[in-house]
Amino acid sequence: MSTRPAPANGKPGSKQGGKTGDPPRRPQRPTVPALQDWKHQSRRFSMLTAYDSCFARIFDEAGIDLLLVGDSLANVIQGEETTLPVTVEEMIYHTRAVARAAKRAMVIADMPFGSYQITSEDAVRNAVRMVKEGGAQAVKLEGGVAVKEAIARIASAEIPVMGHIGLTPQSVNRMGGFRVQGRTVESQKRVLEDAHAVEDAGAFAVVLEGMPAELADEITCSLHIPTIGIGAGSNCDGQVLVMHDMLGLTGDWVPHFVKKFADLGPQVADAAQAFIEEVNQGTFPCEEHSYR
Ligand code: KIV
Repeated sequence: MSTRPAPANGKPGSKQGGKTGDPPRRPQRPTVPALQDWKHQSRRFSMLTAYDSCFARIFDEAGIDLLLVGDSLANVIQGEETTLPVTVEEMIYHTRAVARAAKRAMVIADMPFGSYQITSEDAVRNAVRMVKEGGAQAVKLEGGVAVKEAIARIASAEIPVMGHIGLTPQSVNRMGGFRVQGRTVESQKRVLEDAHAVEDAGAFAVVLEGMPAELADEITCSLHIPTIGIGAGSNCDGQVLVMHDMLGLTGDWVPHFVKKFADLGPQVADAAQAFIEEVNQGTFPCEEHSYR
């Protein structure tokens, strides 16, 4: 049962109008201290994944607070079964594209598998690359107790770190699949320990993925840092979705926790079919789309 107050905001990041006649002012890029304030003001916020400039610009202009260059790009961009193969170079490439278009959203780059688990020196070096070469304002990495040293080292290099606990896709082989976590007393205890380890290590926020809503609520109430839920119920401080899932670009099957806010897949297919037909019939390009 939630002990949290009702959210204070209408639409986070909505445009602030000036005096009559002034153009609407674009809200400032959220900062780490602003996110802490939002938690204490019970102001909810939104995060979407983005992997290229085109969608980053659209989401940024729509008023998204945070843009995550997720290692889910391994799945939705590269067609891999898991997120394990994506490399630091590939993450930097996509982060750069997103960072160029994000004029007001905070850009967070995922640290890929293998880039922070071996030594904390590696972790700092790779996080620095995400900021310096990718243009991210923060990084995200998966795990709790096991990665607290990496979080602390990166944070002490002045790079804001977002944690990610619960169902951590990089642990797919240990978990035996993409399984909801925290369903037994033992597992619940482990997730809670991870939540506190991440906060104690210096993370500025934490993603709670694939866990019962009651557990996410308990974590959200007991941490000082904001929580961002995905498949973790409605009482987190923010919510995140993978853009291809919420836009209906991933085919018929989507995970139980995903809401399709649009169904673009069939629209894209219709557009492609119309193009093919017009080319075959010779009706495209017509006079209007030709040079003389
Ligand atoms: O990689 C990703 O897209 C993520 C989100 C699911 C939080 O980590």
